[in-house]
Amino acid sequence: MKIAVLGHGTVGSGVCEILWNKNSEVSSAAGKPVELGYVLDIKELENVPYSEKYTKDFSAILSDPEVGTVAECIGGLEPAYSYIKSALENGKNAVTSNKELVAEKGAELLSIARAHNVNFLFEASVGGGIPLIRPLYSAMNAAGITEIAGILNGTTNYILTKMFRFGTGYSEALSDAQKLGYAERDPSADVLGWDSCRKIAILSSLVWGKTLKPSEIPTEGIDKISADDVKTAEQCGFSIKLLARAKQLSDGKIFAKVSPALVKNDSPLATVNDVFNAVLIKAETTGEVLFYGKGAGKMPTASSVIADIIEAEKTDGNIKSVFWEDGAQSAAAEKDSVSERYFIRTDYDVSALLLKAEKVSDLAYITNPLNDSEISVLEEKINEHGKLLSKIPVFE
Ligand code: HSE
Repeated sequence: MKIAVLGHGTVGSGVCEILWNKNSEVSSAAGKPVELGYVLDIKELENVPYSEKYTKDFSAILSDPEVGTVAECIGGLEPAYSYIKSALENGKNAVTSNKELVAEKGAELLSIARAHNVNFLFEASVGGGIPLIRPLYSAMNAAGITEIAGILNGTTNYILTKMFRFGTGYSEALSDAQKLGYAERDPSADVLGWDSCRKIAILSSLVWGKTLKPSEIPTEGIDKISADDVKTAEQCGFSIKLLARAKQLSDGKIFAKVSPALVKNDSPLATVNDVFNAVLIKAETTGEVLFYGKGAGKMPTASSVIADIIEAEKTDGNIKSVFWEDGAQSAAAEKDSVSERYFIRTDYDVSALLLKAEKVSDLAYITNPLNDSEISVLEEKINEHGKLLSKIPVFE
């Protein structure tokens, strides 16, 4: 079968290289001959051995009956959404590395794939090169997953590591992450937490079977974390990581949140540095399971797209366990349904305002568990006489 690769950027070019250079390995894993059939991009291909595969005409791909799978690596909602929808409606599998598309349109595209007995797969959309999505819908499908917590953005983890372990400036660390092909075209999606938000929305929707929309997930990035936060947290035995978390509450609703969080130094998540991602899954039958690997970059991410191409080509028909519903009711938990402890730093002594808080350093405290409203009230009270400098949840 022919594979059509849409988009010849960082990830798309990696997918083409693997299909071109490791054609026999890919074919043998798929159990049938698989070859690079088309490469669609707005720019012509330069200096690549597969330049004759170039097209800018998507209809040529759609009308070729030998194209079995379309691999979308363009990013963003359009034209990626229209291309994938048409491919599925025309009986072709679609695979993608595009987290924005999967988080926003996943339920609809999965339902179209099911109706046309083909597959819509997205291993590369979360965790870069870590095999994560497939174990979740296959090996752990009946494990009774209750909680997911992960470092899901390579760029911000790289920046945090460089800034706080090696003293690199923010702009230099970001610019290195861009040069290494880790950052989004608009890196504010990384830094402000939106990329992690889309990824936890995808994991949550897949694991619990109902769409959790990115807009329903409270999201904060790393832009407010200071060197003083990191230094004080470290003195108290914690690292600060940008965490994406989701957990199913007893009423079936999902509590999800993206924010910097204090992680105890003995947690496996505390030792995840540079571009690495890690996802900790808690399940009834297995207990804790940890996935770890490179979360961004050309070849790790391309490797996950190739894994989906192989899966799609070797599977006869639609994989039923890759699915979630677009429910009429929101899957998100109500505000204030979860309480957690916060690390707070202030510019004056606030011991008198705090009930059962632990003073962990000069003008730094870990509160008792507080819900959203309670931490807001505390913040207001502290700001009446001075300033709350930081409030960072503690991951437990
Ligand atoms: N910008 C993303 C990251 C790319 O840094 O994790 C991989 O999804």
